[in-house]
Amino acid sequence: MLQKINPTETNSWKALQELHDLSNTVTLKELFAKSVNRFDLFSISHKDLLLDYSKNHIDTEIFDALLALAEELDLKEGIASMFRGDRINETEDRAVLHTALRCPSEKKILIEDRNIIEDVHAIKSRMKAFCNQVHSKVYVGHSGKTIKQIVNIGIGGSDLGPVMVTEALKSYSVDDIKTYFVSNVDGSHISEILKDVDPESVLFIVASKTFTTQETMTNARTAREWLLAHYDNDRTSIGKHFIALSTNVLGASSFGINEENVFPFWDWVGGRFSLTSALGMSLALTIGFDDFEELLSGFHDMDEHFRTTPLESNMPVILALIGVWYNNFRQVETEAILPYDQYMHRFAAYFQQANMESNGKSLDRAGNTVNYQTGPIIWGEPGTNGQHAFYQLIHQGTKIVHCDFIAPAISHNPVGDHHIKLLSNFFAQTEALMNGKTEEEVILDFKKNRVPKETYESIVPFKVFEGNRPSNSILIKEITPFTLGQMIAMYEHKIFTQGYIWNIFSFDQWGVELGKVLAKKILPELEDDHVVTCHDSSTNGLINAFKRMK
Ligand code: F6P
Repeated sequence: MLQKINPTETNSWKALQELHDLSNTVTLKELFAKSVNRFDLFSISHKDLLLDYSKNHIDTEIFDALLALAEELDLKEGIASMFRGDRINETEDRAVLHTALRCPSEKKILIEDRNIIEDVHAIKSRMKAFCNQVHSKVYVGHSGKTIKQIVNIGIGGSDLGPVMVTEALKSYSVDDIKTYFVSNVDGSHISEILKDVDPESVLFIVASKTFTTQETMTNARTAREWLLAHYDNDRTSIGKHFIALSTNVLGASSFGINEENVFPFWDWVGGRFSLTSALGMSLALTIGFDDFEELLSGFHDMDEHFRTTPLESNMPVILALIGVWYNNFRQVETEAILPYDQYMHRFAAYFQQANMESNGKSLDRAGNTVNYQTGPIIWGEPGTNGQHAFYQLIHQGTKIVHCDFIAPAISHNPVGDHHIKLLSNFFAQTEALMNGKTEEEVILDFKKNRVPKETYESIVPFKVFEGNRPSNSILIKEITPFTLGQMIAMYEHKIFTQGYIWNIFSFDQWGVELGKVLAKKILPELEDDHVVTCHDSSTNGLINAFKRMK
């Protein structure tokens, strides 16, 4: 059980509030002017990762007070309770053990007297054997053709992680296999993919923790019909062209998938934290099992860093505390994740789900409505594309967006001067956000260019940048399976730490249920021509208009 303390009632929260009131008007520029070694004070390295958090509105007193908050709430015990498998997902009565999925085989974690590490490694061995069979062309389709296309059918946590990593590690892809992802129940998604793949060399992977999700099951059935149509309804073809990744082995078998091709995981793996379970199969098939294992090693490395490193030099904890500072004391509601790496273009989307589905809660662990802010709004796109889209608002808008800038020092595609151009933008943006541009600097520019005063005078205010916009910068030597694993685990543990501090349950997702239930109720209403009258006038009006239009 996790503690159930309202964080706002702790002494450290009150101290932080006072520090905020005292320091609220101090700018980032002033903080940098005050301390020449600010970068040394507020940056930290772990192996090939460097986190610079100096461009935030903190000083040593505020940082210490944030650490004191974590201490007062006994974060260390919270971390320990997750790692040892306490049932900290209380509303679902489950342990939260995604960290066990990347533990070396010699470790031991008992759940109901069973060493789950043995189970994890048994499934990993099966995954490895399957991957090797596909890659060595021993595993073939129903007609004997080798597998050349993989279609992962899943949604949410059963889609976003494999998509994100498959993209991020594209340069590690094995030859001769093309991977597709179908998630949306919109028939266009699967239809477009079915146009591309060959029924004799495709492998469908039905990825669903529950094996009941409407979108996934609808897509899986459509794919099965399509396959059966090709094989004259020979149902034995399903066994060759479908595998499943699920906790619901029975559900997968009744779909027609051979039991030896069902790769299970367990209820103590949350959907959005399941990437390192069997759910990573599409990824392992795409990059090869050795690199999949390297990714897991990166995860484990960051797990250990999080579990054992003192709070003041613990990367996920630092990121989490800075986030709490902005979210709860400086009223910043939104965080952008901005990777300066094209391969990481789905990184923000992945953490949008991981973070918002985890910490988008308004009841505390005792069931009371919280009187403080919880999870932020997460979004982002790769730089430099974002610069030409939404950075205007980040630089000059009325809202403060807290940004994480992420970049690799080494590119996988060192063509021409692309990478230094990319990185010059990465460095420039955080500097510009912090320093802004004063009226004097704007006028000086005009003068240097000999622009007459009467021409520039009215434009000056529009060219002023207030600056004082905070950011973190994360520099990675190179995006490899290992460093990517570290990065993902770092953000996972940031989410855990914040949920812990906010006294909320981060590992359930009741908020997604209501819409699902209503959609099921509405579905039969759409199937006939009767006028619908059982909803509010807006919903009735929309449904009836749809029926007239279709
Ligand atoms: O969106 C709700 C959710 O339950 C997510 O948490 C999960 O990742 C997704 O649906 C898919 O669920 P499943 O893997 O069971 O199909």
